[in-house]
Amino acid sequence: MRLPRRQQTGAFLPPAIVKASSRAHSHHGPPIVRTRALRKEYPMGDTVVRALEGVSLEIAAGEMVAVMGPSGSGKSTFMNLIGCLDRPTGGEYELAGEAVSGLSGDALAAIRNRRVGFVFQQFNLLARTSALENVELPLLYTSMPRAQRRERARRRLEQVGLGGRLDHHPRQLSGGQQQRVAIARALVNDPVLILADEPTGALDSRTSLEVMALLQQLNRTGITVVLVTHEQDIADFAGRIIVFRDGRVVSDRPHAARDAAQRLAELPPE
Ligand SMILES: Nc1ncnc2c1ncn2[C@@H]1O[C@H](COP(=O)(O)OP(=O)(O)OP(=O)(O)O)[C@@H](O)[C@H]1O
Ligand SMILES: [Mg+2]
Repeated sequence: MRLPRRQQTGAFLPPAIVKASSRAHSHHGPPIVRTRALRKEYPMGDTVVRALEGVSLEIAAGEMVAVMGPSGSGKSTFMNLIGCLDRPTGGEYELAGEAVSGLSGDALAAIRNRRVGFVFQQFNLLARTSALENVELPLLYTSMPRAQRRERARRRLEQVGLGGRLDHHPRQLSGGQQQRVAIARALVNDPVLILADEPTGALDSRTSLEVMALLQQLNRTGITVVLVTHEQDIADFAGRIIVFRDGRVVSDRPHAARDAAQRLAELPPE
């Protein structure tokens, strides 16, 4: 049997992540994302905004995908749907083989909490709360005992290089550190899918590279990553680039991903 790459790189990862990724890397498993004619309309008074007009695509386990396109083209709408934050007006969606387009409310939230981690441009951390508590937050909705929650959150913060910042509040952290806390929080439920909507939009170029290196590192453990970006420099770190325009996919092609850690190493010292 050919060993998947994660078994070579997995040594420094917590067991839960390695276990999750061995599922994600299965060649027989369903795609992580599968949409058919997905539509989203927003009623606006007498009219309706057609934010997505029939998107059909598949994203396989272990892919790292960049979503691009002009403002208003439907990128965030698409992310919200595949992240189970919102329901489509029409079409089908399966997340890791599970049909979710018909679900609503609690069922949708349960799948979202189990399967998906979110990273946002503005970090979305709770201001008066420590890094550790921020990361622990998604686990409050599970039955996990407190000590175990703490331990999990601590391990994820260590994994993103913030083991020494557990008690810092967001304003006591740099932008890049805040985004790494947000990534640790996104990881804490062992998701199969990380969705990042302009994760580097609020960061300088060096810090952006650090965040992209982290996302690439996570992706190499088998976690599927989909990120929205307006910058070609950032999309260059993905293995596939999907372009939206007017609520439709106008381009979808594989891409030779650059290595963010290597780019970072080539930068002149600060
Ligand atoms: N809650 C909403 N109610 C009404 N219209 C909305 C809503 N959310 C988005 N839209 C509209 O749907 C379209 C797609 O919006 P979306 O946020 O998906 O764009 P985007 O590609 O993420 O743009 P940006 O790059 O500016 O973030 C836009 O025309 C927008 O005005
Ligand atoms: Mg958007």
